[in-house]
Amino acid sequence: MLSDRFGRTIDYLRISVTDRCDLRCTYCIPKGFKGFEEPSNWLTFDEITRVVAAFSRLGTRRFRLTGGEPLLRRNLPALAASLSALEGVDDLSLTTNATQLSLQAQALRDAGVNRINVSLDSLRDDCVSRITGSDCLDKVLGGLASASQAGFDSIKINMVPMQGVNDGDIEAMVAFCIKHGFILRLIEAMPMGSTGQHTAGLDLQKLLAQLQPRFGLLPSDQPLGGGPARYWRTPDGRFTLGLITPISQHFCASCNRVRLSVDGTLYMCLGQEERFELRPLLRAGCSDAELEAAIRDAIELKPEKHEFLEQPTRIVRFMSMTGG
Ligand code: GTP
Ligand code: 5AD
Ligand code: SF4
Repeated sequence: MLSDRFGRTIDYLRISVTDRCDLRCTYCIPKGFKGFEEPSNWLTFDEITRVVAAFSRLGTRRFRLTGGEPLLRRNLPALAASLSALEGVDDLSLTTNATQLSLQAQALRDAGVNRINVSLDSLRDDCVSRITGSDCLDKVLGGLASASQAGFDSIKINMVPMQGVNDGDIEAMVAFCIKHGFILRLIEAMPMGSTGQHTAGLDLQKLLAQLQPRFGLLPSDQPLGGGPARYWRTPDGRFTLGLITPISQHFCASCNRVRLSVDGTLYMCLGQEERFELRPLLRAGCSDAELEAAIRDAIELKPEKHEFLEQPTRIVRFMSMTGG
């Protein structure tokens, strides 16, 4: 079992398989951004599988594929199949913008991806175009329809509500999620990288105070994944709402995760710079024992908490590098 200096168990690894994306969400990557990682620095599927195997020997049970946009990485289902076949990989999930999902949903399900989270901030074409910089709503909805048919254990919608942009779209999103059986998660925007655009998120505590009586939401402690969301449900169980509140009520004391970027760097916290580079070790032909020792050393670096409130301009890397 991996545990850090603060007694937290680390049993969730998020794996970014590319830092590129076909969209430019205002809170994530600025338009015209060119600082992507060189493909020669990308971990190969064999290297990623090796790192995941080492984490699973150390007791990590949950793994999530992220990007940038993970479906842009060629042949992702082949990687998913190698990972899900490893002993100890109990939960393999994916976070995607779904623009390419209609073509790949079934292959990913067949390769052992059991849960899927889709980023979608509005159901209005013009609003989605404004946020993502792309006229992509129909493709995303097509991707969601294919995912629904592919039989994933759960499909969650990640929505980042922003004042004056999509905060009026929440009720429509609730109705859409009830209709399709999706879990809706609202996320407070975090100040990552300076995208130069609107990133002021909403305080979700206030929003919850409005939504709770409106939909009769009751707190739910049903385990719905490995992430930081807190959940509420309607009494008839038809609708579940998750809130991810890194700003108004952070969850660092129960943090259970680290992130592997596409170039093989382990990031210890979304809101801090502590990191450990595994690629040089992997490419120098390290043994499994050396790899495991390096991971243990890396976990020692994990900081206690983010400092988004104290130092909102500190983290210059964009969200797309670590995939949220
Ligand atoms: P589940 O296993 O379904 O609970 O997934 P998840 O919520 O961990 O994954 P997802 O990729 O959908 O993440 C949703 C968002 O939660 C991320 O994009 C981040 O915005 C936020 N988030 C996840 N982990 C952390 C964390 O450790 N710190 C902070 N500040 N935010 C996080
Ligand atoms: N703050 C909060 N969430 C973000 N995401 C991307 N950038 C940010 C940010 N700055 C979310 C997206 C996606 C998930 C992977 O990360 O909504 O669903
Ligand atoms: Fe791409 Fe996701 Fe970032 Fe949007 S939030 S630009 S879809 S990586």
